[in-house]
Amino acid sequence: MYICICNAITERQVQSAVADGAMTLTDLQGQLGVASCCGSCAETAMEYLPGGRYAEETIIQHEGAVQVGDAANDPSIAVEVSRREWAAAQR
Ligand code: FES
Repeated sequence: MYICICNAITERQVQSAVADGAMTLTDLQGQLGVASCCGSCAETAMEYLPGGRYAEETIIQHEGAVQVGDAANDPSIAVEVSRREWAAAQR
């Protein structure tokens, strides 16, 4: 899912930046360029920062929990999910 349409920045990119230490919108702007054009994505992007509505999801996803919904937009995750399902089926 895209967070910033103007700069084609995805939710996963924002989550990764936060997991790597971004703490403020300025950090996200500096690292990714999010909210650097029309600015309409700023509020949404801030929800991924610590204390934000989606901050918990960012932590969970970057602790190794891959969600199937992510796989729909990311072929590399789809492969990983398939491997995990295959491995689980072998048990
Ligand atoms: S949608 Fe992010 S700057 Fe326009």
